[in-house]
Amino acid sequence: MSSPLDRRHFLSLRTLPAADWQRLLADAETLAGPRGRERLLAGRRFGMVFYNSSLRTRTSFEVACFDLGAHAVYLQVGGGLWQLEHRDGVVMDGDAAEHVKEGVGVLARMVDGLGLRSFAGLKDAADDAKEPVLHAVARASSVPVLNLESAMDHPHQGLADAFTLRRRFAGRKGRVVVQWAPHVKALPMAVPSAACLAFAREGHEVVLAHPEGFDLDPGVVADATRLAREAGGSFTVSHDRAAALRGARAVYVKAWGSRHAYGDPQAAAKARAAHGGWMCTERSLAETDGAIVMHCLPVRRNVVIADEVLDGPRSVVLEQGEARLHVQKATLCRALGISP
Ligand code: CP
Repeated sequence: MSSPLDRRHFLSLRTLPAADWQRLLADAETLAGPRGRERLLAGRRFGMVFYNSSLRTRTSFEVACFDLGAHAVYLQVGGGLWQLEHRDGVVMDGDAAEHVKEGVGVLARMVDGLGLRSFAGLKDAADDAKEPVLHAVARASSVPVLNLESAMDHPHQGLADAFTLRRRFAGRKGRVVVQWAPHVKALPMAVPSAACLAFAREGHEVVLAHPEGFDLDPGVVADATRLAREAGGSFTVSHDRAAALRGARAVYVKAWGSRHAYGDPQAAAKARAAHGGWMCTERSLAETDGAIVMHCLPVRRNVVIADEVLDGPRSVVLEQGEARLHVQKATLCRALGISP
């Protein structure tokens, strides 16, 4: 049985109730207008703990707080904030000076909501799948926790991507392909997982396209399949990019690492090198139904997506970035118990 605090956390698109998903998207649309500049959160305080770098997430939360009259506090682990330990029962004789039980416990007495960014370790797939840092922080916090990208999920990105697609498709459903792309290094699976879950929740015909060996977490695939069915859509996996893209109305391009080479950089590099042809180009999109192209950013040009696509009319990457501001105003209001 969930507690009231559990219901105000925003940790994963796998578990968010369907009614909350719809409410957040509707609120985001409201808050994208003049209502989003009213002091709905006056006097509230929002702390953000970042283990990793950010441009969009940090800026959009700070601006969202400013616009709604709240105060945002940014804390970077290891960069002015103590290194934090999250595991239970360890002898803390390494770099970490503070445990999240105390660190987050104290922060939660000073703020009304807490955001956390902590990427996948990319050493142990089973450990990353358990979301150890996110769950340790949620357990230690007495205020709502928002996931600003964890090991396996980026729910605010998924919400912003769904918001962008609703606006672009004017609410209609279509074939949406989440396609793997090459990269210079192995990247986490949080963004493609969130994209699959978000588009499945929207009832689209979702196709996850990747070379063999680049499967997403089986639990995410199972949840995306279930959520798509519940929303009246579908979710399938394809290793044939050309077939997957045929008739697509949106193509979400993202690089991620191979599960079979997890924690093995040399094997991972070899696996990626075999599929350099998966870069998104105008030619690769020729048989789509005039598809728009999406990416969460940051993106490496001419590695992941060609200049011709990013600089052309298909690209909606800047709209996606802007949407982060609107949806995060909605998740902040939900976390702090304010109805916009
Ligand atoms: N898409 C996204 O989360 O961007 P940042 O990593 O810059 O926050």
